[in-house]
Amino acid sequence: MRAVDIIQKKRDGLELTKEEIQWLIDGYVAGTVPDYQMSAFAMTIYFKGMTTREISDLTMTMVATGQQIDLSEISGIKVDKHSTGGVGDKVTLILVPLVASFGVPVAKMSGRGLGHTGGTIDKLESVKGFQVERSQEEFIKQVQDIGLSVIGQSDQLVKADKLLYALRDVTATVDTIPLIASSVMSKKIAAGADSILLDVTVGEGAFMKNIEDARRLAQTMVELGKAVGRRTVAVITDMSQPVGTSIGNRLEILEALEILQGKGREDVTHFICELAQIMLSLANVEKTIEEVREHVMNGSALEKFEAMIQAQGGDLEDLYRSSSAQYIVDVTADQSGFISELPAMEFGLFAMRLGAGRAVKSDKLDYETGIVFEKKVGEVVQSGEVVAKIYANQKISEEMLTEFKKNVRIDVERKKVSEIIEVIS
Ligand code: URA
Repeated sequence: MRAVDIIQKKRDGLELTKEEIQWLIDGYVAGTVPDYQMSAFAMTIYFKGMTTREISDLTMTMVATGQQIDLSEISGIKVDKHSTGGVGDKVTLILVPLVASFGVPVAKMSGRGLGHTGGTIDKLESVKGFQVERSQEEFIKQVQDIGLSVIGQSDQLVKADKLLYALRDVTATVDTIPLIASSVMSKKIAAGADSILLDVTVGEGAFMKNIEDARRLAQTMVELGKAVGRRTVAVITDMSQPVGTSIGNRLEILEALEILQGKGREDVTHFICELAQIMLSLANVEKTIEEVREHVMNGSALEKFEAMIQAQGGDLEDLYRSSSAQYIVDVTADQSGFISELPAMEFGLFAMRLGAGRAVKSDKLDYETGIVFEKKVGEVVQSGEVVAKIYANQKISEEMLTEFKKNVRIDVERKKVSEIIEVIS
């Protein structure tokens, strides 16, 4: 076989065989198919798409390029969760201990942030001492002992995705359904959980900009999961504005703690309780939303979170420490009305420039910086009222402040928002 023929076949809109997909991916991982041919291949997929059968073959080929985690030593139905990326997305930090507080084991591998999106692993690493690298034995033992663990993704898992994602990131080929579905599902399948909850984000700050594409991505991933015997449910969630109130590693840890103490915003708390209810149901544990909420209000979920922080070497005192950012700058509204838009991507990029995110993989993070919103979309604001606070370790110039304000859009009409837009199972 020759890579050029496979690229040409896809370029001409034809369906590839399993053998052709396998040959190309295996060759790429082995180093015999170069980056330039793989980028051309990714671009043909961007324009020509793939059939369900091709996506399934691509996914399973990718799974086979790395280690597959065996979680069978952990008793019970293991559930996992994955988000297709967001801004201010601290959901995992709350959801995982909440689900674990019902005795459902959660063994989760999470990623790091890149560009406007944040990563759970970076947020956890903002806690002094917290270890995200664990051997498979330690990972499994911790879940057996305390019911939960969140670690960084093993280097050995889905090697094809590591290479391919880095390539897609610099060749404008990330936001295409076949490549997102195979990337996400290959990792979820290799990570070994029995059931999977997929959070498919949609909106300005997400890869999927409209509901139709989000639905197609969700359906594709649910089918991939089911085809290999994993119970899979996808929720389509809003990413037109950041999740909750904060963006930035330390700031998001603090917001997660607030929610786990029952003192968080009602909308985010309710949203996470709904996700927990679905995840529990994937493990055959049926609970009402009130029963789930009770585990937030009575501290059971917080207890699990603290247990995880301690088990992975984190310092509990440091966990509750406020941000040490040198400058805290109030941003006030220039007019009265209702907040109509807080574009997630723009604020994600703004936080990245403060050091809260990475422009390139090798960037070092400043855990203390970011943004805390005092107002969210749909809420009333008076001229001169504080809309957000910027946490920075650099002076915020007038130019930056103007740019920030430009993105706080205020209207005379109240806009309605809902976190979960659709559930696909
Ligand atoms: N998240 C992933 O893991 N992969 C993608 O391709 C996009 C989002």
